[in-house]
Amino acid sequence: MMMNSRWVTWLLMLLVLLIMVDHGRCNNTNKLHGVGHGNNNVTHNPYRRFLLSNGLALTPPMGWNSWNHFGCNVTEKIVKETADALVSTGLSKLGYKYVNIDDCWAELTRDTKGNFVPKKTTFPSGIKALADYVHSKGLKIGIYSDAGYYTCSKKMPGSLGHEERDAKTFASWGIDYLKYDNCNNDGSKPTIRYPVMTRALMKSGRPIFFSLCEWGDMHPAKWGYQVGNSWRTTNDISDNWESMVSRADMNEIYADLAKPGGWNDPDMLEVGNGGMSKKEYIVHFSIWAISKAPLLIGCNLRNVTKETMEIIGNGEVIAVNQDPLGIQAKKVRMEGDWEVWSGPLTNYMVALLLVNRGSVRASITAHWDDIGIPANSIVEARDLWEHKNLKQKFVQNLTATIGSHASKMYVLKPIG
Ligand SMILES: *[C@@H]1O[C@H](CO)[C@@H](O)[C@H](O)[C@H]1NC(C)=O
Ligand SMILES: *[C@@H]1O[C@H](CO)[C@@H](O)[C@H](O)[C@H]1NC(C)=O
Ligand SMILES: *[C@@H]1O[C@H](CO)[C@@H](O)[C@H](O)[C@H]1NC(C)=O
Ligand SMILES: *[C@@H]1O[C@H](CO)[C@@H](O)[C@H](O)[C@H]1NC(C)=O
Ligand SMILES: *[C@@H]1O[C@H](CO)[C@@H](O)[C@H](O)[C@H]1NC(C)=O
Repeated sequence: MMMNSRWVTWLLMLLVLLIMVDHGRCNNTNKLHGVGHGNNNVTHNPYRRFLLSNGLALTPPMGWNSWNHFGCNVTEKIVKETADALVSTGLSKLGYKYVNIDDCWAELTRDTKGNFVPKKTTFPSGIKALADYVHSKGLKIGIYSDAGYYTCSKKMPGSLGHEERDAKTFASWGIDYLKYDNCNNDGSKPTIRYPVMTRALMKSGRPIFFSLCEWGDMHPAKWGYQVGNSWRTTNDISDNWESMVSRADMNEIYADLAKPGGWNDPDMLEVGNGGMSKKEYIVHFSIWAISKAPLLIGCNLRNVTKETMEIIGNGEVIAVNQDPLGIQAKKVRMEGDWEVWSGPLTNYMVALLLVNRGSVRASITAHWDDIGIPANSIVEARDLWEHKNLKQKFVQNLTATIGSHASKMYVLKPIG
C-alpha cells in the first residue's frame, strides 16, 4: 500500500511535467526555431530529473529482432549469422546495432537457485558466449522477458517476482537491451509491474535499454518515459498493409509524448518478409522513420534481397529517423485516403511524407501552413527515395502525383 501511494504521487508529478513539456511543444514559435528541443543532453535536461536516466535512446534504437521472421524457432546459429550479416551487408555502419533475441530462448524451468537456463537445444553455448560474439562484431545484444509468470509462448518463465535476479543475470551476460512483454501476468496493472523491472535494471550496474511491450493497454506513452526507453503503442503487427497502416495510425496519436530518451513504438518492421509489395514496404519504412519509431528489422538478414536492402539500407531516410531534434512527425492533414505527414528536423529543415492509401493514383499537396514553414519561404526539396534534389524551387506548397499504396518522402529546406 505504501508503494502504491508513492507511485500515485510519482505519476502525478510526471503528469504535471508532461503538461509543462507539452506546452512548450505546442508553441509554434518554438517549433520553427527549435528552441526548447535542442537539448538532447539527458543529464542536463531539467525535465529528465526523475527519469530512468540510463543515458540511452537519444535517438530511436536500430537493429534486428528475431520474432517477425523466426518466431519460436530462433537459435544461437541464427543470431550469430545475423550479426555477421549486419556487418557484411553494411547495415551496421548505417546504425543497425542491436541484435535482439525475442521469446523462446530459455528452458521452461529455472535452475535450483532460480536462475534462467538458456535452452540447451537451441542456445547450447549459453547467452554469455553469444553476447561476447555479438560484441566482438561491434554490435549490441538484446534479450526478452515478460512481466508475468510465463512469456507469451509459455515455453519459458517470465520475470514477475524475479526482477532483480534476472536483471543481474542479464547484466552479467553483457546484455544491452531488454524487451519486456505483458503475457500471463497476475492481473495487476502494467504501471505496477513494469517499474519493478526498471528499478532492477537501474541497480544491475549496466545501462540496459528498456523496451516496454505492454501493447498500448494503459496508454504507456503517458507514463513510459519514466519507466523505459520505448513503449509499444499497439498490438502486434502482421505482415500486411491493413495491419501496418493501423499501427501507424494508433502510434501517431501519441506523437507529442516521444522525445530523446523515450520513444513511441508501433512494433517491429516487416520489410523483407514478403507480405507487402515493394511500394507498400517503402510506405512502411518511411512512416516508421518519420515517426521516430525504433527501426528493428524483422526479416531474415542472412539472405536478404537487393530490393529489401534498398529499403532498409536507405541512409537518407534513416537520417530523418535519427535526426537529433527527435520530434515525431504528425499526420498534419488528411483528405480521404491522402495523407500529409510532417515534422521538424534540425537546421530548420522539415521532413515531409505524402501517402496515398487509396486504390487510385492521386495528386497530393502539402501546404506550408500545414507543415510549419513560414508562408513566403522558398523551399528546396530533396526526394529521399529518388536520391536527388528537385530542380524546381517551391513556394507555398508542394504537390506530387502518387500511385495507390505508395508514397513520396522529402526533406524540405527553406532558402529564403
Ligand atoms: C511561444 O514561445 C515564444 C518564444 O519562446 C514566446 O515568446 C511566446 O510567449 C510563447 N507563446 C506561448 C503562447 O506560449
Ligand atoms: C552533456 O553536457 C555536459 C555539460 O555541458 C557535457 O559535459 C557532456 O559531455 C554532455 N553529454 C553529451 C552526451 O553531450
Ligand atoms: C518454426 O518451425 C516449425 C517447424 O519447422 C514451423 O512449422 C513453423 O512455421 C516455424 N515458425 C516460424 C515463425 O518460422
Ligand atoms: C532465405 O532462405 C530461406 C531458407 O534458408 C528461404 O526459406 C527464404 O525464402 C529465403 N529468403 C529469400 C529472400 O531468399
Ligand atoms: C500552390 O502554390 C502556388 C503558388 O506557388 C499556387 O499558384 C497554387 O494555386 C497552389 N496550389 C495549391 C493546390 O494550393
